Amino acid sequence: MSFNPNYWNKRLENAVFEVPKILEELLQEFNPSEVCFSTSLGQEDQVLTHILSKISKDIYYFTLDTGRLFSEVYDLMDKTSTRYGIEIDSIHPEAQALNNLIKSQGNNGFYHGIEQRKNCCEVRKMQGLRKAIAGKKLWITGLRAEQSENRKKIPALEWDEKNNLFKLHPLMFWSQEDLNELIKAHNIPVNPLHKKGFVSIGCQPCTRAILEGEDFRAGRWWWENSKKECGLHD
Ligand code: ADX
Ligand code: SF4
Repeated sequence: MSFNPNYWNKRLENAVFEVPKILEELLQEFNPSEVCFSTSLGQEDQVLTHILSKISKDIYYFTLDTGRLFSEVYDLMDKTSTRYGIEIDSIHPEAQALNNLIKSQGNNGFYHGIEQRKNCCEVRKMQGLRKAIAGKKLWITGLRAEQSENRKKIPALEWDEKNNLFKLHPLMFWSQEDLNELIKAHNIPVNPLHKKGFVSIGCQPCTRAILEGEDFRAGRWWWENSKKECGLHD
């Protein structure tokens, strides 16, 4: 039987605690070498690491280390590899491209405009991402519908035309309460910054805590009036 995205989307629709079982079955359709999981070590990705590492330690776990991450992220990366017995590949920006970026717009040029910000995300994240997912057939992420209006429109399993592979978001229908419940039940290690109001954590200079009543992604690139995506998911 060939891979049928509609079938899996139906199974994943509104799925929460059935996700580990569905994921285990879905991954049987792929060779582990064809599957990658991008982790930012955020709460969603920690929950996914907990679920995925029980299914397969042989899929490709990777993080885009932009060089500007919070120190807490590096601590958590070490802790997570040890706890789950997995290797998380760190992908770094290419040295010459980074040098050129800094020469042309400075170290913190991203504060000066959307174009400069996108240039930085391109060099520090996107170029590495393309390398990491090259040749893969399935890319797993921690996107959730609740995170933004934009993300509500994305199906749990989608064909990514730009990158020529399927993108799977197993936690698409999970709420913050669902995440909290699983994290507590299994003592899943999470970034201590979440408790300080950093619900969504990206690079340190581009992330702030959110205030009561603010949107989930309000703390990302907070100075911008944009749809707040870096290219990974738009
Ligand atoms: S972002 O595009 O704005 O940075 P967000 O922080 O919401 O994304 O994370 C959504 C998903 O994108 C994560 O669950 C993860 O799969 C992927 N992702 C985001 N940042 C990284 C990163 N630095 N390294 C690897 N994956 C990442
Ligand atoms: Fe650069 Fe900020 Fe994008 Fe990180 S989030 S890559 S520091 S612009």
